[in-house]
Amino acid sequence: MIEKIKQIKAKIDELEPKTAEEVELIRIKYLSKKGELAALFNDFRNVGPDQKKSIGQEINNLKVSIQNKLEEWKNGLSIKKQPIHSSIDLTQQEIEAKFGTRHPVSLIKNEICDIFKKLGFTIYDGPEIEDDWHVFAALNFPDEHPARDMQDTFFIEKHPDVLLRTHTSSVQVRCMEQQKPPIRVICPGRVFRNEAISARAHCLFHQIEGLYIDKDVSFADLQQTLLHFAQEVFGKDTKIRLRPSYFPFTEPSAEMDVSCKLCGGKGCSVCKHTGWLEVLGCGMVHPNVLETNGINSNIYSGFAFGLGVERIAMLKYSVKDLRLYFENDVRFLNQFTNY
Ligand code: DAH
Repeated sequence: MIEKIKQIKAKIDELEPKTAEEVELIRIKYLSKKGELAALFNDFRNVGPDQKKSIGQEINNLKVSIQNKLEEWKNGLSIKKQPIHSSIDLTQQEIEAKFGTRHPVSLIKNEICDIFKKLGFTIYDGPEIEDDWHVFAALNFPDEHPARDMQDTFFIEKHPDVLLRTHTSSVQVRCMEQQKPPIRVICPGRVFRNEAISARAHCLFHQIEGLYIDKDVSFADLQQTLLHFAQEVFGKDTKIRLRPSYFPFTEPSAEMDVSCKLCGGKGCSVCKHTGWLEVLGCGMVHPNVLETNGINSNIYSGFAFGLGVERIAMLKYSVKDLRLYFENDVRFLNQFTNY
């Protein structure tokens, strides 16, 4: 019997079950009612009294060691099983979550819109694909004006009247068609010009147009509104100056400069040693434009302005090359996370 017990022990030691089913088969083979251990206990009855104690102990030891082995195999298999059955690998390193940031042009656009919204302006939108009337004719552009030239404007080949808007002033016209004074709107949007791409010019950029029409609107209102805007964007100590200029749709017309923040007005390479930076065009809405668009210029007057969003962003963030705004290089864009 001792020999038989040793054989079973040796067999058990050689076993390496790979699955829970194999472990169960081993249990049945050795520990079930009709298993090998049960047979041993049966034979045990015939053992002489002098050997009963020692053989009985051997059989019990064998039973306990088989039970331990079965337990060991079961636990080992359940640990190994985990990665196969679970898609989560708890040992994998954490991947740092990267969040996107707003584009600097959007940041500035939103900031400017918010400034004017607080003054009671509302956002007004118009189409990017336009016609001659809304971009030029209704804005008092003479027929021979160079802006109507193919060199400046993208026309649609098969339809000479269809073009990509060159400025958001076209939205002024759309607004006057729809609304009666008082009108107080800002119109942000993309504009397109047939220009060679360089550090200072692009064929696509963003503008914000402003229009204010009511009774008794004066040039002083324009000046004060723009001063407020400039100080909100560039800082409270910012000064503005208005230089006489020409736009077909405003009379008088002006260009606005802000004092250069980098040199404090003393003159540097950014302001080309003038102490001033040009930021926008503006003026009192031309009576022809009011009349063309159904507004009585004897009762109403208004001011308008138009600014380039990239230009403001370049000045505010000290970016010298306009092209950076369109290349979508994340090394550039990530720098605006804190704004
Ligand atoms: N539309 C002009 C441009 O693109 C900018 C502008 C100038 C808009 C004067 C205005 C204005 O409303 O009054 O250059």
